[in-house]
Amino acid sequence: MNKYIKENEQRFIEELLDLLKIPSVSTDKKFKPDVLKAADFLKEKLEKAGADKVEICPTEGNPIVYGEKLIDKNLPTVLVYGHYDVQPADPIELWKSPPFQPEIRDGKIYARGACDDKGQMYMHVKAFETMMETGNLTCNVKFMLEGEEEIGSEHLVDFVKENKEKIAADVILISDTGMISNEIPSITVGLRGLSYLEVEVTGPNRDLHSGLYGGAVPNPLNILAEMIAALKDEYQCINIPGFYEDVEDLSREDRKAMAQAPFSLEDFKKEIGLKDVEGEVNYSTLERVSIRPTLDVNGIWGGYMEEGAKTVIPSKAYAKISMRLVPHQSSEKITQLFTDYFTQIAPKSVSVKVTPHHGGEPVVIPTDSVAYLAASQAYEDTFKRKPVPMRGGGSIPIVAMFKDELGLDSIMMGFGLDSDAIHSPNEHFGIFNYMKGIETIPLFYKYYAEMTKKAKS
Ligand code: BES
Ligand code: MN
Ligand code: MN
Repeated sequence: MNKYIKENEQRFIEELLDLLKIPSVSTDKKFKPDVLKAADFLKEKLEKAGADKVEICPTEGNPIVYGEKLIDKNLPTVLVYGHYDVQPADPIELWKSPPFQPEIRDGKIYARGACDDKGQMYMHVKAFETMMETGNLTCNVKFMLEGEEEIGSEHLVDFVKENKEKIAADVILISDTGMISNEIPSITVGLRGLSYLEVEVTGPNRDLHSGLYGGAVPNPLNILAEMIAALKDEYQCINIPGFYEDVEDLSREDRKAMAQAPFSLEDFKKEIGLKDVEGEVNYSTLERVSIRPTLDVNGIWGGYMEEGAKTVIPSKAYAKISMRLVPHQSSEKITQLFTDYFTQIAPKSVSVKVTPHHGGEPVVIPTDSVAYLAASQAYEDTFKRKPVPMRGGGSIPIVAMFKDELGLDSIMMGFGLDSDAIHSPNEHFGIFNYMKGIETIPLFYKYYAEMTKKAKS
């Protein structure tokens, strides 16, 4: 297989560049034709690679691209999940090369979606092609590629519920996370959940002259700032009553094991230009970004925001606030607790409206399953080093849903790096990482088939 991969490396890269040229941004309706174009592109490539029954399944939102290759009902079936939608490219002026005109610099492909998730998803299409062309496909395989991950996967949820038979499988395989470094591979064995809300604070019924009224009326912006400050205490613990109620404390052994994971605080700070870090007391940086819940303001606005100055007391103030959740917190419950508390701490002089956005549940994946061991062995072959199981800080809400609806665990073989700038300007994906993925994925199929057979006999 390695010979085939080497011989076709240039074409594999070219094809990814073509996919990256399509601005399939899911959050903005204006890009809908491009979203459909990306789906068409994948349909054609899956067919070319040898998949059967490839179809573009319409939903009320963006379509799901489905395809399969069923070779033997006695072999295990792998369901590959990935997403072809991307985040918006803004702020566009901070890109060194245009986000949808991919450029290779220093061995890395620069484009929106290069890592999240077009590059990582397309590794699976090319790994599949490789297995087909070299006669090495050892499992049945199904592809389910969606176009709404970045906006909450709303319609994929219905699709999964309505198509349980069609997508029936033994394991789910996803590349939409990262690894520690190019020398130290890791497998993501946990994701945080998410609770996302928007708040609106209203004071006077219109914007007021701050000289005529200032000092005697509530200023919603001042009050919003105070309310946000009241959400955490001096130890950076979240004040919302009941917030930590369901959080599972890790055992001393688990925390010790986590501390063994290779991590450099100096590099962490340097890479993002920080003099110091901060966060919840008594937890390490690695713990703060994986096993602990968080609360962050993602946007805050109101009042006069144009050039120059305007002396005004705004009528309204707004913020977008998100909380990352850990097992066994529930997104619905946390959203309710936040809403209750936020409404309760508001002074009588203002009114508060809280509107929930999408959410998602946290997950942890067992490391003793046949599928995990197969993935681990695959990495060990290609990296010459056993991958470290790591809980990730990001969210892929659909993973918990797969477990609930299909009873299946997901194996998250991520090949990205934290420094790949996903969701940021100058997102990129190393060609090393892309090719390593294409090399490692077929080995997962090989070991998964072998180990499943052994486990059965
Ligand atoms: N692929 C990411 C999630 C991710 C990245 C997990 C790196 C672990 C490591 C995914 O596309 C994403 O951005 N998820 C969103 C949530 C979604 C509901 C918008 C997130 O985590 O903010
Ligand atoms: Mn993603
Ligand atoms: Mn993303």
